[in-house]
Amino acid sequence: MIRTEIKRALASAIAATCDGKIGDDQCFSLLEHPKNREHGELSIPCFQLAKLLAVSPPECAKRIAAQVTLPAGVSEVTPLGPFLNFRLERKGFSERVLNGVLKAGLAYGSGKKREQITVIEYSAPNIAKPFHVGHLRGTLIGNALDRVHRHLGYNVVSVNHLGDWGTQFGFVYAGCEVWGRPAEPTVAALVELYRRATSLRASQDKNEVAEAEKGLPKINEMARAYFVDLELGKEYAVNFWQWCLDISMEYFLKTYSRLNVKFDHYTGESFYSDKLEGVKKLLDDAGVLKESQGALGVDLGEELGFARIYTPDGRSLYLTRDLATAKYRAETFNFDRSIYVVGAPQTLHFKQIKGVLKAIGVDYWERMLHVPFGHVAGMSTRGAGEFVELNDFLDEAFSRALTTYREQVTKRPPGLDEQEVAEAVSHGAIVFSTLNRGCIKDVHFSWETALNFQGDSGPYLLYSAARISGIKERAAQAGITPATTVRGELLPEESAFQLIVLLENFPEILERTAAECEPLILTSFAIDLASQFSKAYNELQVVGAEKDVAEARLALFEATRATLTTSMKLLGMRVVERM
Ligand code: ARG
Repeated sequence: MIRTEIKRALASAIAATCDGKIGDDQCFSLLEHPKNREHGELSIPCFQLAKLLAVSPPECAKRIAAQVTLPAGVSEVTPLGPFLNFRLERKGFSERVLNGVLKAGLAYGSGKKREQITVIEYSAPNIAKPFHVGHLRGTLIGNALDRVHRHLGYNVVSVNHLGDWGTQFGFVYAGCEVWGRPAEPTVAALVELYRRATSLRASQDKNEVAEAEKGLPKINEMARAYFVDLELGKEYAVNFWQWCLDISMEYFLKTYSRLNVKFDHYTGESFYSDKLEGVKKLLDDAGVLKESQGALGVDLGEELGFARIYTPDGRSLYLTRDLATAKYRAETFNFDRSIYVVGAPQTLHFKQIKGVLKAIGVDYWERMLHVPFGHVAGMSTRGAGEFVELNDFLDEAFSRALTTYREQVTKRPPGLDEQEVAEAVSHGAIVFSTLNRGCIKDVHFSWETALNFQGDSGPYLLYSAARISGIKERAAQAGITPATTVRGELLPEESAFQLIVLLENFPEILERTAAECEPLILTSFAIDLASQFSKAYNELQVVGAEKDVAEARLALFEATRATLTTSMKLLGMRVVERM
């Protein structure tokens, strides 16, 4: 990070004008990248410094400007009101950045292998229950974080904590008993049985059973009896559970591959069913279990309430299995950070997990991080935020993408595989529009925004990168290839420099995306990069310019294409060369 290096030197130079009243580090932390690019590449708001120096902020800015000895790499200092703005020495900066990017290519921004181990858990749909839009959003957020962490060099362990244990199997089982096993064993059939059984339970509970369903056994009791048998490991129960699991896993693996997502481990809740003893021992040793309304749990005080860990009849709960999960991950992976990408409605649940672990006296709760995300509206194929069939939604995306692509991209290169393009466009549209919004905020999905080739969208990014490939092809026909090293004086234009400033920022963007677990940082960067490229290309023609200028410009665009491509890949998008 070249600007960081320059920032350090500049911070010491500024501190040196402050009569020992301010340290280098403090100056460093105050230096920022000005939002208005006309103000230069680095700036420092003087409010804090002014206080310490006992002068007004504008006075402070002027004083430092007059006294500071600019370090190598910085060419200009200008006081502007309470701000102090700095310009970089362009030629050297451009050369260093651009040649670095050209050398690294698609590996730009990647880091050396790091020691830190990061567990990232995401997706976690429930077997035999509907796949919610929230599961899709979590899948895409988690996948982007997973990829960014790996690119940066972290040791990532990705986990899909499938909801493959719990009373839902009881309802599906009871449903099969009452209405028979489905003729075609599909995920949709399992979900339908679950739905039918739970709705019968609701009407039985309310004593409002329809005429045709009168006389059926109590579905809730059947479901519970089945789940007790499953927990006891009775053969019939385990076989039925395995049957559901096999149907579901085949389906999920296919769907994940369509979504461009893979996991290291598919260890769901069932994986922990034989690891609950260890949790019980920890709880007992710490003596923290209390009783409340017959259930055993830990009292976490006013804010977090009573965390139920065992039902009155001694069965484990979702929370119990999560305690075992946390313990297992800590002991098996010895993680530095364990990230849970799970919807915001489970915030209390994760606070309770950490609260209980803290009460037990283990320390890994401090390294666990819940990344909550908001609702998604406008995406589901059924009103209630559920997909009747996620693949139907993806199919719809595909056919819309193909139509929109043909409408909006009129000059299509001949001989293209339009199916492949439409796959990339539809998938990219969904991925990008899901991620281009702060995780915690609600998303309103719309096809118009997602598939708008001119807007902030996945298709716009794909199109921008493909456009550069086209420029490169045409240049090659005119005998121009990108320079492998660039001389800064060949790119004196403002628009070229602004593109280079953006490129330089990429490694820091990735660090922040990972540190804050916020893919929006990367989507915004990618859009900025694509729009700045478009501005620059309007001004900087390649074919027709003098040869060495043309080669330098082409190299700049090539570096942009590589960085854009990497950004898209790290977001989880598929990239096509031409479109
Ligand atoms: N399967 C759960 C659901 O659909 C999400 C699991 C979240 N992860 C966890 N470790 N509790 O709501």
